[in-house]
Amino acid sequence: MFTNNTLNNYEWRRLHEKLDRAIAEAALGYLHTLTVRRIPIKAQQLSNELDELRLGREPDYDVPGIPLVYALKYMPKRVVSIFGSLLSVLDDWHPKSVLDIGSGTGATALAVDLLDTPHHINLLGIEPSQEMILFSECSGWLDHVSAKYKQGSIADLVKDRSFLIYDLTVFSACFPYGFDNWSPLLTALGDYEGQESKMILAVEPDAKSDLLVSFRNRLASKGWPTITFCCHDLPDVIKDNTLPLPQMLNVWQRLGMNDSDQPRTWWNPPDDKFLVANPKPTQASQSLPITGTLDSFKLWNRNSLYKSHVLQ
Ligand SMILES: C[S@@+](CC[C@H](N)C(=O)[O-])C[C@H]1O[C@@H](n2cnc3c(N)ncnc32)[C@H](O)[C@@H]1O
Repeated sequence: MFTNNTLNNYEWRRLHEKLDRAIAEAALGYLHTLTVRRIPIKAQQLSNELDELRLGREPDYDVPGIPLVYALKYMPKRVVSIFGSLLSVLDDWHPKSVLDIGSGTGATALAVDLLDTPHHINLLGIEPSQEMILFSECSGWLDHVSAKYKQGSIADLVKDRSFLIYDLTVFSACFPYGFDNWSPLLTALGDYEGQESKMILAVEPDAKSDLLVSFRNRLASKGWPTITFCCHDLPDVIKDNTLPLPQMLNVWQRLGMNDSDQPRTWWNPPDDKFLVANPKPTQASQSLPITGTLDSFKLWNRNSLYKSHVLQ
């Protein structure tokens, strides 16, 4: 784990290389499954289908080949977002188990692996698309995470409360545009009381920030302390868009895609927004203000650490 939630350039370059290698290896593994199934890849067509995302519509993630193009175009950005937001809040608490809702191509598993936490992490991904699951299962580069994937959706949280035993629940860009079925989801997540040892992270691009506001208000009404922040609050070192992704680029070029649209780690826009419910799990969170920003959380955290130090 990185000291004081900071990363130096050297550490970030090392992680960046790992990210490049992990996604490229998974992409090649998944490409092999397409070849075995004799599915031709029309990468440009798939890329156009994915551009639906930018137009505020949901692509069909079950089309064979979509996960490949999704992973090469978007996965580094999603990994950096999840990694950076967790790096900003995690301190002396680290999850041992993670539930990843709408796990897609496995961005959360890779992000928590890069965090290099002191404990091994068990991750369960819940994902509606079998094709996306197939891609995640091609990922063999995780050192600190054992990941399993299961077909399902947000609605399954409601049906099966056994999903809610996880220390950290992640929702990364998984709320469909226009999602408004909050009531069952909030009933499933439950009241904060009795769940002080758990954290929830939700990440969405700016275009879906109204969903995060709704989610935050509803969690706050159930007593969950929350903080919100955005990609500009993340450590500068990880926002470097100039670091190369040579192994991913190699796969990209093999698909016949041109360099102008090539894989990149960071981007601006779209801006990502973050919501963390219970940023300081365990007993200490009792006096945490009910809603706030990353700065107010850091100030509160510093003061409460100072207080607990003085009281000892
Ligand atoms: C933009 S991708 C994000 C994937 C991944 N979480 C990431 O950060 O890269 C959206 C994912 O949400 C999934 N999804 C769509 N509707 C969902 C639902 N109702 N419940 C759970 N996942 C859903 C899609 O199948 C897709 O894999």
